[in-house]
Amino acid sequence: MKESKTILITWWLGYIGSHTCTVFGEAGHDVIIVDNLSNSHSEVLENISEIIGKKPTFYNIDIKDISAFESIFRNHPEIDGIIHFAAKKAVWESCEDPFLYYENNIIWTNNLLKLMNKYDKRNIVFSSSATVYDAPKLLPPFSENDRLWTYNPYGTTKLVMEYMLKDLASFKWFNVVNLRYFNPIWAHNSGLIWENPKWVPGNLVPYVLKVAKWDIDQVQIYGDDYDTEDGTWVRDYIHVMDVAEAHLSAYDQLGKYNEYKKENNINESKWYFDVFNIWTWDWKSVKEIIELVQKVTEKEVPSKVVARRSWDIDTSIANPQKAKQVFGREYKRSIYQAIEDARRFVNNIEKNN
Ligand code: NAD
Ligand code: WQD
Repeated sequence: MKESKTILITWWLGYIGSHTCTVFGEAGHDVIIVDNLSNSHSEVLENISEIIGKKPTFYNIDIKDISAFESIFRNHPEIDGIIHFAAKKAVWESCEDPFLYYENNIIWTNNLLKLMNKYDKRNIVFSSSATVYDAPKLLPPFSENDRLWTYNPYGTTKLVMEYMLKDLASFKWFNVVNLRYFNPIWAHNSGLIWENPKWVPGNLVPYVLKVAKWDIDQVQIYGDDYDTEDGTWVRDYIHVMDVAEAHLSAYDQLGKYNEYKKENNINESKWYFDVFNIWTWDWKSVKEIIELVQKVTEKEVPSKVVARRSWDIDTSIANPQKAKQVFGREYKRSIYQAIEDARRFVNNIEKNN
């Protein structure tokens, strides 16, 4: 049986964090959640507890409140490492207010990194994004060593954080895994947790689901005259539970490296740094996603083609090989499983309304 560890999770009540929490809980780890509920709901905690059968420790703290954050490190010397989801993620908002994104995603995160250094907690899994690839200049699929560039402030914050973590690995001996997720979608198969932002979602799938639930009138398709089969952009959509499980693989990878160091008496100052695409290879266009959601929900999803969005990137598909080799597994719940999970999610919403 694997050793149980205590893992500090920042912003774990959000979409990807809450799903990842169930995976770590079910693997027997103790999790400490930090979130300020700015884009999540407190009942998510109850639902996570129901799924994993125990209540995770929770702190309602804003990441910028450094002294409150420090008290967590002081009170929990048993913390083994950090899974860091903290970031504002709306591309349009980052274009309107880049400073908000620099502060939230870089400056406040730097405070967390300083605390990790101070309390000698050097294991971190970081949420990076497919957005760091220079999509307009690359031919998909994108591999981890492909050219990186950014086209909006949100993307810039992710790339800067990747570089900062590389420096901290080299000079402060952090052990780092950067996971570049492509487009996470759908929900936990219990129907108890899902992507439930407080604001109107900017991403395609939660938006289409809200239309299917009649919260919103229609989906706007941002351009159907692109150079693709049906004229709409294509994305590598990945089931959120596959993304969640990739965090466990990444964390295990850090654990294996630390054990290897101990067994071979390797100097403390040796570090681990790696980057992985988290992918499915199951890409879809905007129009295909809308059709799929209609099929899932058995509801009509009205749509209208409107002007292109200025910040949209080209087709984005991951090369899956590296994670497959190193983690020894594929991240590929089928799109049909995704349909079933989404159906459960929609039914659950209706039951509760
Ligand atoms: P989310 O918005 O659902 O979750 C973020 C959580 O952080 C929310 O629970 C919110 O209440 C909390 N939060 C926000 N500001 C806070 C603050 N100042 N202090 C404490 N808590 C705060 O986002 P998500 O989709 O789960 O994304 C998680 C990570 O994954 C982010 O780093 C994001 O950039 C990255 N990512 C997401 C996607 C995607 O499509 N969802 C793709 C690639 C990468
Ligand atoms: C997908 C496609 C839109 C909404 C964003 C971030 C990226 C990453 C994932 C975090 C595009 C079209 C969308 C709508 C539409 N996040 N669309 N109508 O653009 O791949 O990536 O989220 O790291 O950084 O940029 O995802 O879901 O916003 O859009 O037609 O109402 O759907 O034009 O072609 P995207 P998305």
